[in-house]
Amino acid sequence: MDKFVIRGGNPLLGTIRVSGAKNAALPAMAAALLTEEPVILENIPQVRDIETTRKLLAAMGAEVELGYGRAQHRTTICARNLTSPEASYELVKQMRASSLVLGPLVARCGRARVSLPGGCAIGARPIDLHIKGLERLGAKIKHEHGYIEAIADRLEGGEILFDRITVTGTEDLLMAATLAEGETVMQNCAREPEVADLADLLNKMGAQIEGAGTSTIRVKGVSKLHGVKHRIIPDRIEAATFIIAGAMTGGDLNVAGCDPAHLGALLEKLAEVGVKTRHTTESVRVMGDVPIEAADIVTEEYPGFPTDMQAQYMALATQAEGTSIITENIFENRFMHALEMVRMGANIKIEGRRAVVRGPSPLSAAAVLASDLRASASLVLAALVAEGESIIDRVYHIDRGYENIEEKLKGVGAQIRRIGEILPKRAAAPAARA
Ligand code: EPU
Repeated sequence: MDKFVIRGGNPLLGTIRVSGAKNAALPAMAAALLTEEPVILENIPQVRDIETTRKLLAAMGAEVELGYGRAQHRTTICARNLTSPEASYELVKQMRASSLVLGPLVARCGRARVSLPGGCAIGARPIDLHIKGLERLGAKIKHEHGYIEAIADRLEGGEILFDRITVTGTEDLLMAATLAEGETVMQNCAREPEVADLADLLNKMGAQIEGAGTSTIRVKGVSKLHGVKHRIIPDRIEAATFIIAGAMTGGDLNVAGCDPAHLGALLEKLAEVGVKTRHTTESVRVMGDVPIEAADIVTEEYPGFPTDMQAQYMALATQAEGTSIITENIFENRFMHALEMVRMGANIKIEGRRAVVRGPSPLSAAAVLASDLRASASLVLAALVAEGESIIDRVYHIDRGYENIEEKLKGVGAQIRRIGEILPKRAAAPAARA
């Protein structure tokens, strides 16, 4: 297991580039299952979840080419011959977003068998809303041996009202509805930019979707979709993580290749705490050499403050003057990073769904453990301002969603390196008996 060794104290200076959005690329790859023709996706991030999705699609018989070059990161997926419309436990347990294949498979093949994901580090995260939605579209559902099987000769359009807002649930059913007979109206949908990007891709493939990016989406089912080329939107969470890194380290950082229109809640909050930013249509410059004041956040669905930025904001709050109250509304167990930050000297108290952060606290380097993707990113941020050399263990979590983060941060002045696990020396063989 790799670790990061980070020596804190350097302001980040220069330009850092943002990759394509993992959470837009994953549903886009699943959408390729809806057609026999090749789908070409550009700006694919080089992260582990994409590799897991490649394996997932390949196991069903799809041909997946995945290439990363200097100029282009792209995948071409051709799902002409799907041999087994299944997502195994082996793959689903590595990545919950595997359930995104449920809708497309049942829509295209009439049958899907997908493992239930089981527990998760940040909350229960069931997929009941995906399943209920498919039932509304006429699928028959069987639950057996840890798997969900959905069957429908052809899905039928219907009305879906989500009990609560779900991002991948909206995406899964959106994909299913594109090939259903008749019209589907989905209400209380997720409004995330990744949902709108998926609808954009599907419309280019010949789907008839209106309203994606709002809470009501209408889909007129079509009988067939075709191949296309599509460019994935920039990763707003990666961009936001770098913006906070610039602010925390007192740097002057240009976060390039992002879409500031997707970063509204964060930029608003940074203005409130005193961080200066300036943006163009595709970059944000953060000038961090200013005192930071405390401010509360409450995580909400888009366009509210993203839960995927809560941990990184907490790292910033440890450096702010005053008390910040952080309320996590989306997941019930997403404060694991707080205890690691406390080990580095932060003053954080957890009270149920609230974390009370009192700052500023000088952080001192420590060996810490990453518990999930965004928690790992927050520990990297804390280590960038801590005095001394921190070691962050289990960085495989960060590799799921941040492309080459150590090289990117090194390029703007961070002292960060990756080390492999140092295995204990093998015990000497017992001496032969005389
Ligand atoms: N929920 C249910 N039933 C469902 C679906 C969701 O109760 O059938 C609950 C969840 O347990 C959670 C809430 O609804 O409490 C919202 O979950 P949602 O379904 O929106 O989350 P998700 O689609 O599984 C996506 C992102 C997450 C991000 C959340 C919230 C992808 C691949 N994943 O997950 O990203 O945190 O939306 O914005 O898009 C990450 O990138 O680190 C990450 C965890």
